[in-house]
Amino acid sequence: MPALVLLGAQWGDEGKGKATDLLGGSVDYVVRYQGGNNAGHTVVVGDQKYALHLLPSGILSPTCVPVIGNGVVVDPSVLLSELSGLNERGVDTSKLLISGNAHIITPYHVTVDKVTERFLGKRKIGTTGRGIGPTYADKINRVGIRVQDLYDESILTQKVEAALDVKNQMLTKLYNRRAIAIEQVVEELLGYAEKLAPYVADTVLVLNQALEEDKVVLFEGGQGTLLDIDHGTYPFVTSSNPTAGGACTGSGVGPTKISRVIGILKAYTTRVGAGPFPTELFDEDGQALRRIGGERGVTTGRDRRCGWFDAVIARYATRVNGLTDFFLTKLDVLTGWEQIPVCVAYEIDGRRVEELPYSQTDFHHAKPVYENLPGWSEDITKAKSFADLPKNAQNYVKALEEMSGAPISAIGVGPGRDETIEINSFL
Ligand code: GDP
Ligand code: IMO
Ligand code: MG
Repeated sequence: MPALVLLGAQWGDEGKGKATDLLGGSVDYVVRYQGGNNAGHTVVVGDQKYALHLLPSGILSPTCVPVIGNGVVVDPSVLLSELSGLNERGVDTSKLLISGNAHIITPYHVTVDKVTERFLGKRKIGTTGRGIGPTYADKINRVGIRVQDLYDESILTQKVEAALDVKNQMLTKLYNRRAIAIEQVVEELLGYAEKLAPYVADTVLVLNQALEEDKVVLFEGGQGTLLDIDHGTYPFVTSSNPTAGGACTGSGVGPTKISRVIGILKAYTTRVGAGPFPTELFDEDGQALRRIGGERGVTTGRDRRCGWFDAVIARYATRVNGLTDFFLTKLDVLTGWEQIPVCVAYEIDGRRVEELPYSQTDFHHAKPVYENLPGWSEDITKAKSFADLPKNAQNYVKALEEMSGAPISAIGVGPGRDETIEINSFL
C-alpha cells in the first residue's frame, strides 16, 4: 500500500505545508523525516493560519497520526510550546508519536550554531540559528543526545559530558565564551522527559506495521532539494537529506515501500540565506514577487530572495528524487505580468549548459538563459479545474511540465485548502 513522499523541489518554502495538509485528511500517518524547527510550514484552514516548525502538517487533520521520525532533530522546548500553542487553539495533538532515536537539539547546539556563523563573517551560511548543523554534526560524530536518553539519567549525564568536553574548550578558548555547565543542561533535559513520555514510540515498527495493514503513510519533507547536504548547493545547504532517500533513512521505511514522490514546485523561485541563485532578481520584478507572494520567512522573518522559475533546477529535482509528480504552487502570484521569463538553461563561461553543473565553481558562474512566456491578467484564484485557467496560464503550466520532466498533478492558486486545482489524484 502506498507510502508517498512530498518534498521541496527548490530551496524550501515551496508550499509543502499546504500540500501536506491538503492530503492530511485522506492519509493515516504524516511523517517528518529530517530537519527540525528550521522549517516553517504554513497551513491555512478557513480563516485560521498555522505556522508549524517541528510538527508534521498532518497534525491539523483529526484522523491522521503525526510522526516525528528518527531523522528529525528535536528541540524539546520548541516542541512543547508548539504543542501547547495548538492545544490552546483547540487542536488535538494527543496522537503524536516521536521516535526515541531522534536527536535532541540542546541549548549548546543553538549557541554553537550562532557563534560559528558569527565567526564565519562574510562566508556565513545564513542559518536559521536553531542549532540544526551542530546537532547533526554531533549525531555523525557519535556524541549526540537522543530522545530515549532522557529516560536514563546516568547515560544522559555521560553523554552530555562527552559532548561538552570538546565544545567547552572551543567555546572558552577559541570563541571567548563562558563554558556551559553539564549539570544545568542535564537538569533542563530531564525536565522535558515526563512531558514528552506519552509521545515517545518505536516509530519504525509502528510505520512498517501500518504499511503492512494497508494504511497510507505520507512523508513530509522540510527544506528542499537544493538545500540537501549531499545534493544541494553545498556548503550553502542545511545539514540533512530533504531528498527522497532521506524519507527512508529518516523513518526506517524501506525504498520498496515508496510508491510516489511528489515534488512541491513554486511557479517562481525563492531562497533564504546565502548561496548561489542564478535567477535571483534585484529589480522591481523581484520586489513584486516578494510583495505579491508574501515571501517573508515563517521561521526567521527574513525577506526571501526572489527570482524567476528555473527549469534546470526543476529537472535536477526530478532526477535526484525520482519524482513521479509535481505540485505547482503559487501560480496566482504570477498574474499580471505581460511576459514571464523562465530559465531554460545556463550560460557558463560562454557555454550553454542544460543540466545543473556538479561543480560549485561552475554553478557560481551560471547565468540564466531565459525564454519569455506570455502572461495573463485574469484572476485565477477561483479556478477549480485546469480548463478554468486562462489559455496563457495553461500554456505556462504545460511549458513548465515539459521542461521539468514530470507531470504537474496539482496547481495551487491561493494559500487556502480549497484554492487548489487537482489534475491527477495523488491517492
Ligand atoms: P513550506 O515551508 O514549503 O511549507 O512553505 P511556507 O509555508 O514557508 O511558504 C509558502 C507560503 O505560500 C505560505 O505562506 C503559504 O500559505 C503560501 N501558499 C502556499 N501555496 C500557495 C498558493 O498556491 N498560492 C498562494 N498565493 N500562496 C500559497
Ligand atoms: P522549510 O521547511 C528555506 C536554509 C537557511 C540557510 C540554510 C541552513 O520551511 O522549507 P539551517 O538552519 O538549516 O542550518 O540553515 O538552510 N533553510 C531554509 N530555507 N526554508 C526552510 O525550511 C529552511 N530551513 C533551512 O536559510 O540558508
Ligand atoms: Mg517554509
